[in-house]
Amino acid sequence: MRNLILAIESSCDETAAAVLENGRTVLSNIISSQIPIHERYGGVVPEIASRNHVLNLPGVIDRALEEAGCTFDDVSAIAVTYGPGLVGALLTGVSAAKAIAAARHLPLVAVNHIHGHIAANYIAHPELEPPFVCLVASGGHSHIVHVRDYTEFEILGRTRDDAAGEAFDKIARVLDLGYPGGPKLEKLAQEGNSEAMKFPRVSFGEDCYDYSFSGVKTAVINYVHKEEQAGRSIAKADLAASFQRAVVEVLTEHTRQAVRASGCDKVALAGGVSANGALRASFDQMAKEEGLKLYYPPLILCTDNAAMIGCAGYYLYEQKKFADASLNAVPGLKL
Ligand code: KG4
Ligand code: ZN
Repeated sequence: MRNLILAIESSCDETAAAVLENGRTVLSNIISSQIPIHERYGGVVPEIASRNHVLNLPGVIDRALEEAGCTFDDVSAIAVTYGPGLVGALLTGVSAAKAIAAARHLPLVAVNHIHGHIAANYIAHPELEPPFVCLVASGGHSHIVHVRDYTEFEILGRTRDDAAGEAFDKIARVLDLGYPGGPKLEKLAQEGNSEAMKFPRVSFGEDCYDYSFSGVKTAVINYVHKEEQAGRSIAKADLAASFQRAVVEVLTEHTRQAVRASGCDKVALAGGVSANGALRASFDQMAKEEGLKLYYPPLILCTDNAAMIGCAGYYLYEQKKFADASLNAVPGLKL
């Protein structure tokens, strides 16, 4: 039987809706980005994000249905991100999903945003099945996850402080690159020498796959201040490349150790930072050295979108893990 999931994502600054057929086929994937709105503030302003989600959601949902060539009558279930994320932003999507589910008598599935990022790989790689290890690196999260089954996860390692994307965004701000920082920093790094400066790589012992980015971040900021005080101009491209290399190395090496310990023969990347070319190249090399098969989604499925939420929601739907009208947004939701 044809299963159609209408998915809604509004956890940060993208208002998104998508329709998926039988879990892995994307019929539509509409993303309305608020980047131009938040750009002038140098980051996402939560209240403004919520207000724009309210304005954008109805049109984005209508377009998702229209592009998929279906109506609410054809939909089997509604999937929605209920955390983690900005509470006001999440609430707009959760409220819309609950209203549609109630009005149309449709089942509702509540999706963890991080689960969604992982599921982007199922859309991109129809042959991919668990178990595998996935590095989820986004603006808010950096987890090394053992994906034991479609809805079963174990966190093997995580950042003890900043998420990888957060570190990219903060250093981009120090270098006056604007928002969102990650892609701009990557572009600048392409013109620089990644061995020009040496920044620290922090670990927490042999059998621990946790890591930290506050050391490298502080080292970069101190370097910039020192050079400014000495009246020297900063080699921004070299700095960007050296910083990126430090982050990429930490993520790659910790994931390498975690995969070895898991016994998996597959490794995946997910989340906004997995759009980074240097990270992909480094994972490519690591996977070759370790004899692993590597998976990552296309760029459009790396950053926030609703197709990934629909795919994750499909597996919850199959297991009849439904939410009810009491569903609330959970900003600090864990995987
Ligand atoms: O997954 P995502 O769209 O939203 C969250 O769930 O957080 O990730 C956004 C994050 C931002 O921090 C952004 O700077 C980072 O992903 N990002 C990148 C790149 N593209 C996006 N970081 C490094 N290199 C990139 N090319
Ligand atoms: Zn995300």
